[in-house]
Amino acid sequence: MDQAKELRSLLNNYKNTNNKNNINSRVITISSGKGGVGKSSFTINLAMYLASFNKRILVIDADFGLANIEVLLGVRPEYNFYHMLKGEKNISEIIVDTKYGIKLISGGSGLKELSNINSSEIKYFIEQFEYIDEIADIIIIDTGAGISSAVTNFLMASDENIIVTTPEPTSFTDAYTLIKIIKEQMPEMEKINVVINKTDDKYEAERIYSKIAHVCKKFLSIDVINLGDIPLDTNLVRAVKQQKPAIISFPESDYSIAIKEIGKRILNENYIEQSSGAKTFMQRLISIFGK
Ligand SMILES: Nc1ncnc2c1ncn2[C@@H]1O[C@H](COP(=O)(O)OP(=O)(O)OP(=O)(O)O)[C@@H](O)[C@H]1O
Ligand SMILES: [Mg+2]
Repeated sequence: MDQAKELRSLLNNYKNTNNKNNINSRVITISSGKGGVGKSSFTINLAMYLASFNKRILVIDADFGLANIEVLLGVRPEYNFYHMLKGEKNISEIIVDTKYGIKLISGGSGLKELSNINSSEIKYFIEQFEYIDEIADIIIIDTGAGISSAVTNFLMASDENIIVTTPEPTSFTDAYTLIKIIKEQMPEMEKINVVINKTDDKYEAERIYSKIAHVCKKFLSIDVINLGDIPLDTNLVRAVKQQKPAIISFPESDYSIAIKEIGKRILNENYIEQSSGAKTFMQRLISIFGK
């Protein structure tokens, strides 16, 4: 059997094994077109806020180059996906507990290699992800910025996506380009969530949201869901300097209040979509990387 065929038959064997929807983890991927828009800060503060509702949160740092999340959470994971891919570690051994109660997996160099793995590695990888469905209610994946496959594949594989942009024209133009590329590869996509960060005020946020919503509807037939906006707030910068997430060090800051509003929206029953779970996410991701 050639490799592509083998992969397909393997993935088919796994299909429909995830019919226990109530226990599947939700997988939320955070991305942006342009870098430095606030994804990693958003990921961590959102994760901590959701954790305060007794949700078991796992953050996956899928930004290959940078170790932002680790620094912000004050941990140094020794092992990452690479070690699991090589069969040296199982998934529980690459999960790091942080002092904030949330768990972290560092993608490291392993995620880049998903396109070159053989069928036994695939089987092992997917099986390991079944464990995540048992230990996490919500998985938040912080990807790098841009339109490379390393970013778009994650967006295509997860049920829920959030694109972060700032009001800067370069940022929302890049956000649009990213959404367009995903739509080209996934014509069935009908909607996407957007968070506008570093806004001056509500009016600016509303103006930027309307612009993005308009072009996405007109040219891509996509509904943009406004998950919320976050003001430019120096408290976040102060929090980063103190190496303590803003939601803890400055819980009443404008930044934290905005995160809480977005978090509540994400937990709202009307928003929650059916989750296919971590294992299905990994099957999809591997199959997309394998194309
Ligand atoms: N709402 C905000 N107010 C003030 N500063 C902010 C805000 N959001 C993020 N920042 C700051 O912007 C910078 C970039 O943030 P962050 O690292 O979270 O972005 P990123 O999108 O993850 O970047 P990268 O693309 O490099 O991964 C940081 O210095 C952060 O403290
Ligand atoms: Mg980042």
